[in-house]
Amino acid sequence: MQLADFLKLFHPVIAVIFVFPFIGTVVNFAWQTRQRRLQNLAGGKSKIPPVVGTEHKRLGEWLTGAVVGVTLLGLAYPIGKNIINKQLVNKEPFQVIFILLMFAASIASLVLLYRAKPWRWRAAFATLTGAALVIIGCQDGVYRLTNQWYWSHYYIGITASLLMIFSVAIIQDIYQDKSNRWRTIHVILNCIALLLFIGQGLTGTRDLLEIPLSWQESYVYQCDFANKTCSTPNPQTPK
Ligand code: HEM
Ligand code: HEM
Repeated sequence: MQLADFLKLFHPVIAVIFVFPFIGTVVNFAWQTRQRRLQNLAGGKSKIPPVVGTEHKRLGEWLTGAVVGVTLLGLAYPIGKNIINKQLVNKEPFQVIFILLMFAASIASLVLLYRAKPWRWRAAFATLTGAALVIIGCQDGVYRLTNQWYWSHYYIGITASLLMIFSVAIIQDIYQDKSNRWRTIHVILNCIALLLFIGQGLTGTRDLLEIPLSWQESYVYQCDFANKTCSTPNPQTPK
């Protein structure tokens, strides 16, 4: 396998080894947090330890970092490949610098979001992180599958990342709001996020199946993807 093919696998490997196990742990703590709260509300004394809520929040913060990170990795490969193939460093240096700045901006705004306390700053840094991801996603080379957006790995992945960023932005509101409105919003949105993560598993493995290895590219990309046909080699003339 060539180096380019190894680099292509980096994103799926990180997703499978780190992100998906994380999702399982975070959801397990989420379930226990809810059960504990409901059991206490019902008057009984729950046997679930109080630490489950804090652990869910702590690992949830890690999960957000992991999802944004894996999204940036998924975007970096096709964008980087496009820059190299079209020699954009020489032809459009400012565009390349802009893309690098956007990667740096997304990471910096996420770090600042973790530290921000007043809601205005949380809203500002969450918006900046999300906007940077969307701007990076709009660059050439990214396989967006816009005409079939409902099963596009790109749209589902960006939406899941935005939901994770939103979860971090509203942590304080979940704790402070006595009416539990923010808690309910959080649960509904993150149940949707859970479905989107399942979608990422499905569409990601499908995309892996569709992307050829480097040495196969020149043959496979001659095929007509719309009509699902490939030209057959000339039949051997019998001697
Ligand atoms: C797949 C992702 C997630 C799911 C399904 C999920 C679901 C839940 C559920 C069911 C609860 C308990 C609600 C209740 O008490 O009724 C909860 C609480 C909470 N979640 Fe999440 N969540 C997810 C990710 C996150 C992330 C990424 C963060 C942010 C870092 C986060 C922060 C919180 C906080 C702060 C609470 C309150 C904990 C407490 O009461 O001590 N969650 N979540
Ligand atoms: C939390 C989970 C995941 C997120 C948020 C995520 C996000 C992304 C994003 C935003 C892209 C760039 C857009 C695109 O080219 O489609 C991408 C690319 C890709 N992802 Fe994922 N992904 C996740 C999991 C997976 C998994 C589990 C696999 C496969 C097992 C996978 C395989 C791929 C492949 C093959 C590409 C295309 C790379 C290329 O264009 O060369 N992803 N992912």
